[in-house]
Amino acid sequence: MTEAASEREKSIRRVRRFYEVSAQREWERLEHPTQGALEFAINKAWIQKFLPGPGSRILDIGGGPGRYSIWLAAQGYRVTLADLSANLLAIARGKVAEEDVELEGVIEANATDLSRFANESFDAVLCLGPMYHLLDESDRQAVAAELFRVLKPGGHAFVAFLNHLSALRAAVNQDIPFFTPYTFDIVKRWHYDHVMDFPVAGIFSPAWVVHPRDVAPFMERQGFRSVELVSSQSVAGDVQAHLALFAERQPELYKWVLHELVKLANDPTIVGSGWHLLYIGQKP
Ligand SMILES: C[S@@+](CC[C@H](N)C(=O)[O-])C[C@H]1O[C@@H](n2cnc3c(N)ncnc32)[C@H](O)[C@@H]1O
Repeated sequence: MTEAASEREKSIRRVRRFYEVSAQREWERLEHPTQGALEFAINKAWIQKFLPGPGSRILDIGGGPGRYSIWLAAQGYRVTLADLSANLLAIARGKVAEEDVELEGVIEANATDLSRFANESFDAVLCLGPMYHLLDESDRQAVAAELFRVLKPGGHAFVAFLNHLSALRAAVNQDIPFFTPYTFDIVKRWHYDHVMDFPVAGIFSPAWVVHPRDVAPFMERQGFRSVELVSSQSVAGDVQAHLALFAERQPELYKWVLHELVKLANDPTIVGSGWHLLYIGQKP
C-alpha cells in the first residue's frame, strides 16, 4: 500500500471511530438548542428553496443518523441515505422505523466513490459532512466529481463545509474549555494550516476548514454552477445560548428573529461569521 493510501485508510478509520463513540450525540445534535438547532433550521430553509418536486430521488451522502433523510422522506421524496459509519446507519434505521417513513436505501458508502450509483440518477444530492472530514485535496475533488456525476442536469447539490474563519473566534471563546493557552497549537494549526485536529479523543475527528471565498471556485472546477453560499448559523453563531433562552422566553418574537436570521444567511457580509457553510450548486 502506498503512503497516501495508508493515510487515507487511517483517516477513514478515525472518522468511523469518532462516530462510534459519538453516534447518539450526533443524532441529538441537530435538536440541541445551542449546538445544532439553528444550523438545522437554516439549512432546511435554504435546501427547501431548491428542492425538486416531491417523488424525486435524493441522495443524502454522509447523512449519518438520518435527520435530513427523514425530513425529506416525510415530504414524499425517494431518499437514499449513505454513510461511512455503520454505527450511525444503525441509528438511522431505528429512527426511520420510529418516524414511520420509508427510505429507498440505507447504505454504507464512501463519498469519494459512489460507483454503485449510475450517472445522473438523482434529482438532488446532500453532502453535509464528508467534505470537511477529508484532509486530502484529491479526495475532496473526488467527492465533488462524484456528486456532479450522479446528479441529473438541472439538479442541485447541497454541500457543507467548515469555515476557516472561526478559528480566531473559537480561540477566544471561554465557553469552550479546550482552548486554553496550553492547547493554543490547535488553534494555530486550524488558523494557518486549515486543519482542525484535537489530540483529545471524542471532541471531533480531524477536519479540513476552508475560507468561504474558496468554496465556490472549488465546486465550479468540478462543473457546478454556484447558486448560493450560506452561513448555517447566519449571524448568530456565537449567541446560540442567548438565542435558545430567547426562544423559550419570547417564542413569538423568536419566530420573527429566526425568520430574519434565515433571510440574512446568504448575505455576503455575514457568510463568514458562522461555523458551517452551506454551498448550493447546480449541475448545468
Ligand atoms: C457531522 S456528521 C453530519 C451528519 C448529517 N449529514 C447531519 O448533518 O446531521 C458528518 C457525517 O459525515 C460522514 N462521513 C464522513 N466522511 C465520509 C465519507 N468519506 N463518506 C461518507 N460519509 C462520510 C460521517 O460518518 C458523519 O455521518
